[in-house]
Amino acid sequence: MKFALASLAVAISCSSLVLADNCRSHIYYCGYNLLRRGDYMSTIRSTLIDANANMNEYWINNTLFLCKQDDNGAIAYFSACSNGCIDGGFGKSDHCA
Ligand SMILES: *[C@@H]1O[C@H](CO)[C@@H](O)[C@H](O)[C@H]1NC(C)=O
Repeated sequence: MKFALASLAVAISCSSLVLADNCRSHIYYCGYNLLRRGDYMSTIRSTLIDANANMNEYWINNTLFLCKQDDNGAIAYFSACSNGCIDGGFGKSDHCA
């Protein structure tokens, strides 16, 4: 019984890690896909501010970000997609329309 409770606790803490998933290094993401993936809103906002880029609901969704290699889930501003940002599909980079 003690063991069962312990493994239940492990299972719960693992699943909450999966919910807020980091981006994968060297892949480009539309803002809306980062938001779908995890808790990226404040990271996206500060990245847009640092890049001196436009920020509103449209640009948060339709800016392309590069997931950096070494940092844990960190992103870099890449490009603003004025015609919209296209989902490249599972495991692939997104791109501007
Ligand atoms: C941004 O994306 C979210 C989630 O897909 C959506 O609900 C919202 O309407 C979008 N906003 C704009 C301005 O495109």
